[in-house]
Amino acid sequence: MTETQTAPTNPAETSTTINLDGVDVPFQEGETIYEISERHRKEVPTLCYDDRLEAFGSCRLCVVEVEGLRNPVASCTTKATEGMVVRTKTEPIEKHRKTLMELVVSENTGGEKRNGQIDVDPLRGLKSQELSLLADRYDVDGTRFAGKTSGTTNIQDDNPFILRDYDKCISCYRCVRVCAEREGDYAISVMNRGFHTQITTEFENDLKDSACTFCGQCVQTCPTGALADKKAMRDVDTPGEIQKTRSICPYCGVGCSVDILSKGEKIVGIHPAMDGPANVGALCIKGQYAFDFVQHPDRLKTPLVRKDGQLVEASWDEALDRAAAGFVKAKKDHGRHSVYAIASGRAPHESSYTLQKFIRAGFATNHVDNCSRA
Ligand code: SF4
Ligand code: SF4
Ligand code: FES
Repeated sequence: MTETQTAPTNPAETSTTINLDGVDVPFQEGETIYEISERHRKEVPTLCYDDRLEAFGSCRLCVVEVEGLRNPVASCTTKATEGMVVRTKTEPIEKHRKTLMELVVSENTGGEKRNGQIDVDPLRGLKSQELSLLADRYDVDGTRFAGKTSGTTNIQDDNPFILRDYDKCISCYRCVRVCAEREGDYAISVMNRGFHTQITTEFENDLKDSACTFCGQCVQTCPTGALADKKAMRDVDTPGEIQKTRSICPYCGVGCSVDILSKGEKIVGIHPAMDGPANVGALCIKGQYAFDFVQHPDRLKTPLVRKDGQLVEASWDEALDRAAAGFVKAKKDHGRHSVYAIASGRAPHESSYTLQKFIRAGFATNHVDNCSRA
């Protein structure tokens, strides 16, 4: 970027301001009212918003008053302009939001069944409690507008990872948008309109017969738990509080940040870290769902060597001696190219260097690779 193209990175460096709840605050050109409000810790509620996605403006819960405009505007899609006077929390705005919440809750989650429908287990997904927390904040239970509910559950979808419980869907389309905008997959879409709107796959197939890669991003952005993590749900009744431990996915060399969910000593699920520098909330199917190996009863905890045709436990010294003898024999019997090594993407540079040195100098072959290329 040339000097003349450089935009100020700190809003304080610009003289452009809006008046936000009585205080003049700076902003950068292109920022929305919601982004500015977030920065100033205003509690503007949202439902269809995910800061990783293009703002959509469908739920209207983030409305604010702008002086001079007759109707409230959606703050997530309205760009700030110089001199704008914005009020984020007035009595009429809060009343408007509460009525919207009542409509959403009554239509999509069944008014009378509030305790069964809105109390969402956090194991369903990372954002699964957004709607229930807002229902608590606005003290709504959907009974005022109780009536017909929309959405047709697809709970029988035959796949091991994602529960599709569209009785809880509020048609925010975050799942569809994250699938398209972040995963680039377009596996799910919207069919019908209005009250009959339904999230679906191509030809209404099960997810495993669609383009879905089971990355789980739709699950983790869903604000109602309509999409839920089937593997984590196995432990809904396991006693204990859910603990979160920040870690790095053990599979490839990308180094995606994850929060490991556990109850007591048991790992029960994985959440992608929205602030992970390498993944920003994204994971692949392995990082998201393939964690059972950690506590699998078949997992090897000691080396095994074959004796009289049987695999038996051995010390590390014995196992390494056996491996060394095997390598030497392979080279002697079948030549130097009979040996091949793959370095782990999780290994540090020094270990990868040592491995290629071991193969090149020890066996005189270039048969060495790294799993990060996969
Ligand atoms: S399934 Fe969840 S994320 Fe998708 S539209 Fe429904 S509520 Fe929104
Ligand atoms: S799991 Fe990933 S690929 Fe499959 S529908 Fe959800 S976002 Fe799309
Ligand atoms: S969050 Fe702004 S319209 Fe939904």
